[in-house]
Amino acid sequence: MSAVKTVLGDAEVLHAIKSGGMGDVLLARRRGAGDFEQLCAIKTIRGELAAAPLARTMFLDEARLLARLTHPAIAQILGFGDQDGTLYMMMEYVPGEHFRRFRDRRPPPAIVCAAMASACRGLHAAHELRDLGDGHLLGVVHRDVSPDNLMLGFDARVKVLDFGIALVKGRQAPVTELGVLKGKPPYMSPEQVKNEALDRRSDVFSACVVLHELLAGKPLFEGDSLYAIARAVEHQELVPPSRWAGALPADLDDVVMAGLTRDRERGWAARPRSPRCSSASPRRTRARASRRGSSASSRRSGKRIARGSRRSWRRRAR
Ligand SMILES: Nc1ncnc2c1ncn2[C@@H]1O[C@H](COP(=O)(O)OP(=O)(O)OP(=O)(O)O)[C@@H](O)[C@H]1O
Ligand SMILES: [Mg+2]
Repeated sequence: MSAVKTVLGDAEVLHAIKSGGMGDVLLARRRGAGDFEQLCAIKTIRGELAAAPLARTMFLDEARLLARLTHPAIAQILGFGDQDGTLYMMMEYVPGEHFRRFRDRRPPPAIVCAAMASACRGLHAAHELRDLGDGHLLGVVHRDVSPDNLMLGFDARVKVLDFGIALVKGRQAPVTELGVLKGKPPYMSPEQVKNEALDRRSDVFSACVVLHELLAGKPLFEGDSLYAIARAVEHQELVPPSRWAGALPADLDDVVMAGLTRDRERGWAARPRSPRCSSASPRRTRARASRRGSSASSRRSGKRIARGSRRSWRRRAR
């Protein structure tokens, strides 16, 4: 852990939750008048980076964006400060585990779907954020949807974290900052890998990569170099999660594979404009799929996947 002050603002640091290249995430206790006490998480940016204008701007951007995002599925910001050059963000502490650990527990598909639906609601709230002045959509794209940035609380609530590289109103911040790669290539959309202009559909793709991983129990895109991963994101043949997961609720495969459509311009069959996963319960998923005309596959479940459906996924995913 980098040198960390034991007191930041009104909070006493208890221990480091995570130490990284840019800074730390700390567990701290705020104290105030009248025996006020509150646990919080504090995200810091290291002093030497805080002096770099770009890193400072990115950190401030994240804080400003979080200040506007008040949704139960997004970890709330509680405050922001600068103490002797250490920039810090106080946040709601989320006791729980990130989705990578959740995946390793091999949760049942219904639990996975409920968790991902919550995460999608949080992302959707960010996508729908509007300018306070003129009311226009701010075009927010999280750009870093990955198992490490989604938390499942011990109380079963899900929180989207880390808007550190989010796009706001077309701001296309570079993907590498100060020698540190931002964003996680295995969860990037094809358009992100190609460094094209992004919109919310990029987050939908990334959310479906995470959903695939949670169901399959292993990452979808892997490779031993950035180049190999980028190639996999663009060209790897995509197979439905039931290939690894065993029996899945009818049409869950369809939903995942539709979200992984690489060409974002190709209808629902391409990616939905917003991840409206209001409920991914098997029954609703089935209903939605049959409205799209997938009644043939809605009668099948588990590993018994229609050959025709598989072919159509391949066509869409191309
Ligand atoms: N509010 C919080 N409550 C509990 N744990 C948190 C909180 N915020 C972050 N964490 C933990 O710290 C980790 C890193 O947080 P975050 O992604 O926000 O920081 P980061 O510096 O941007 O990290 P990275 O560059 O690795 O993405 C998360 O994966 C999570 O385990
Ligand atoms: Mg992160």
